[in-house]
Amino acid sequence: YVDKLPQMPKLYGYSRGHDGHSLEPGHLTIGMFQKKWKFHRNLPPTTVFAFGTSADTATVPGPTIEAMQGVPTYVTWQNQLPPSHILPWDSSIPTAISKNGGVPTVVHLHGGLHPSQSDGHPNAWFTANFRETGPAWSQQTYVYPNVHHSGNFWYHDHTLGLTRINLLAGLYGAYVIRDPLLDKLNLPSGPEFDRHLMLSDKSFYNDGSLYMNRTGNVPSIHPQWQPEYFGDAITVNGKAWPYLQVQRRKYRFRIINTSNARYFSLSLTNGLSFTVVASDGSYLPSPITTQTIVLSPSEIADVVIDFSTTAANESLLNNAAPYPYPTGTSPDKLNGCVMKFIIQAGPSKPPDRSQIPSSLGSYTSASTAGASLTRYITLYEYQTASNQSTHLYINGKRFEDPVTETPKSGSTEVWEVINLTRDNHPLHLHLATFQAIKVQCLLDVNTFSNCMTSKNDAIFCNITKQATGRTISVPAYEKTWKNTVKIEPGCKTTVVVKFNLVGKDEAPYPFDTTGSPGYVYHCHILDHEDNAMIRPMTMVA
Ligand code: C2O
Ligand code: CU
Repeated sequence: YVDKLPQMPKLYGYSRGHDGHSLEPGHLTIGMFQKKWKFHRNLPPTTVFAFGTSADTATVPGPTIEAMQGVPTYVTWQNQLPPSHILPWDSSIPTAISKNGGVPTVVHLHGGLHPSQSDGHPNAWFTANFRETGPAWSQQTYVYPNVHHSGNFWYHDHTLGLTRINLLAGLYGAYVIRDPLLDKLNLPSGPEFDRHLMLSDKSFYNDGSLYMNRTGNVPSIHPQWQPEYFGDAITVNGKAWPYLQVQRRKYRFRIINTSNARYFSLSLTNGLSFTVVASDGSYLPSPITTQTIVLSPSEIADVVIDFSTTAANESLLNNAAPYPYPTGTSPDKLNGCVMKFIIQAGPSKPPDRSQIPSSLGSYTSASTAGASLTRYITLYEYQTASNQSTHLYINGKRFEDPVTETPKSGSTEVWEVINLTRDNHPLHLHLATFQAIKVQCLLDVNTFSNCMTSKNDAIFCNITKQATGRTISVPAYEKTWKNTVKIEPGCKTTVVVKFNLVGKDEAPYPFDTTGSPGYVYHCHILDHEDNAMIRPMTMVA
């Protein structure tokens, strides 16, 4: 805990009109640059890929974009990267490959509702100066209408087969949609008391360079790909195990798990607890106080920590999540530590006038009643005879197989997601907001798996009778409209999904969602997403 927690630069996704009050759309140009970054005082500088408005100001993570609800933000994402990648990758999985030398990139606003041409489709990649573009590429400038209700989002690379490499290299950043009304809630605010904590595990070589394995777990099939990347060092806002000096008062932290594969089970020492006010994308109906929060990759917890409730002068943020989650290795002294809060003596100056209101977001509740359709979605892992993972698929299908999920824009569906693997998987759908409402495990996973492997038909394989085992409750801090939900192994998770449908009026937003290239849904463990726990999804009118 020798480096100070950095604060990422802020960019505004809107501008003030000439009258100084009205808000007008914002236009941003954000580049991706190769540069050096210091992750720790005692580690030589690391070569990274960083987002920023110039090479000098680019950071890992990238700048925090602050947008206003209902005011569009236009972003021109520019690739300024040199011809070759700083990390090893694997051309034996479906991968964007530049013919002329160049690092393919494309940016996705995670959780956003926008036309698919602005979604950062895995095949809409581009290399430096748009010299080469992928088959789904159509435009340089993306539009984000910011019609989602206010909350926490993030942006990151989404290139076919390179997502795990490009995020590890540093291509991710935070995005907030603010609602002027909710800002009146009087939660802790301002740059000092309202902060992001972007968690990411990384390993390094002694010379400071980022470690990504050069050999796969089954090199005869995939020379480089491994089923999960786990780093020893836990970085927060681009520093390994940083500290933050805080006053004896309430702070708001927007905690985003930007790791490739690592789950976090977070807790605080010295008797402090989290009061969760929001999850990924939405507020909770009312605040939930908890000692532990489990975050899968891409999940977000927006919390208040009140440092006046302890007499101690420090508190550690620790991690207890096994990796892989939930039955892998327990964290050790390195990856079990996240960061340290140093609590100043004496009362807060100025006094803390912030409050945690008793009610927060008011949205429609999740129910299967209004759903137009039920889909069965099954997660598979394929292994060699010696139990080495070779790839993962959804519904037994490759990414490039014809689209099978074609929801109606503006509709509600029930997705029954069945996990036949041994690990938890974070399920993420684009253009959607959803909640897990019930988790019920299978009576006999082996029998059901054997049937599914030959028939791939959950109804035929009698899921209704199978999914009558033990139930697992969804934590109260996840009971809101999210964009990532955890899918327990050996169980069926019932997810209520709304497509392109949020806000007070519950109407589909009036931009065209039905055109090419369409959207995707996938596992957010990036090593799974890349090989190839991802499927296309197109919207119909
Ligand atoms: Cu955060 Cu499709 O990704
Ligand atoms: Cu997965």
